[in-house]
Amino acid sequence: MADEIIRLQDVVKTYKMGDHVVKALDHINLIVHSGEFLSITGPSGSGKSTLMNILGCLDLPDDGEYILEGRKVNQLKDNEMAVIRNQKIGFIFQNFNLISNLNALENVELPLIYRGWGAKQRREIALACLEQVGLAGYANHLPNQLSGGQQQRVAIARALAGTPPILLADEPTGALDRRTGKEVMDILEKLNTDGHTIILITHDMEVAQRAKRTVRIVDGRLYAGEEADHGIHHIH
Ligand SMILES: Nc1ncnc2c1ncn2[C@@H]1O[C@H](COP(=O)(O)OP(=O)(O)OP(=O)(O)O)[C@@H](O)[C@H]1O
Ligand SMILES: [Mg+2]
Repeated sequence: MADEIIRLQDVVKTYKMGDHVVKALDHINLIVHSGEFLSITGPSGSGKSTLMNILGCLDLPDDGEYILEGRKVNQLKDNEMAVIRNQKIGFIFQNFNLISNLNALENVELPLIYRGWGAKQRREIALACLEQVGLAGYANHLPNQLSGGQQQRVAIARALAGTPPILLADEPTGALDRRTGKEVMDILEKLNTDGHTIILITHDMEVAQRAKRTVRIVDGRLYAGEEADHGIHHIH
């Protein structure tokens, strides 16, 4: 079995809105091994993005533990968390989140600037990443000069630029039509074959089925595979 890369132990996240308390994550246990392609499905409001924020070191659990490559994330300082986030995680979002006045190449270069690499090296890496997603010829295009699928591929190239071991994708096909969504999934599948660990969040079962393993989250609780539909076995 490959190395364990992610472990969530009894992770709880609660939001308070006035008197109203939402248990967005209710004692989540999850282990992900290096090289896995895992999808997390669940209805709207079930806690998927909350989980993604914690996995991506954008937020901390209220309770429980997150261990990333053997390090306890809860115990890191803010600046240490930012470093881990930059080095370990590549993010892919539903709405691409590209900077509109930067071209494709400059968007892909962005995460490398924080690494302190020189301009020439940045350019070479960013070009190689654009090539990996089939967009070498589009380096000078601004986001609004690209189709939705192409914009998402730029976002994937940006996620790859820092060679993070983990790619986290939150509804990467959510803003795309079916055919374009399939192209994006083809790329994610290829990246997984190349060794990237991928965690994909989606409410689309057809998209989810392309992962090697599927878990489901309902009302903040995580279930293996189809269990949620039978409503019994909460993973412990
Ligand atoms: N910052 C916040 N403040 C208060 N409540 C929040 C906050 N973020 C999320 N929630 C609540 O936590 C629950 C889980 O939200 P989350 O965004 O994780 O759901 P989701 O599964 O990603 O949904 P969707 O499929 O619609 O994106 C919801 O009830 C939501 O209203
Ligand atoms: Mg969400």
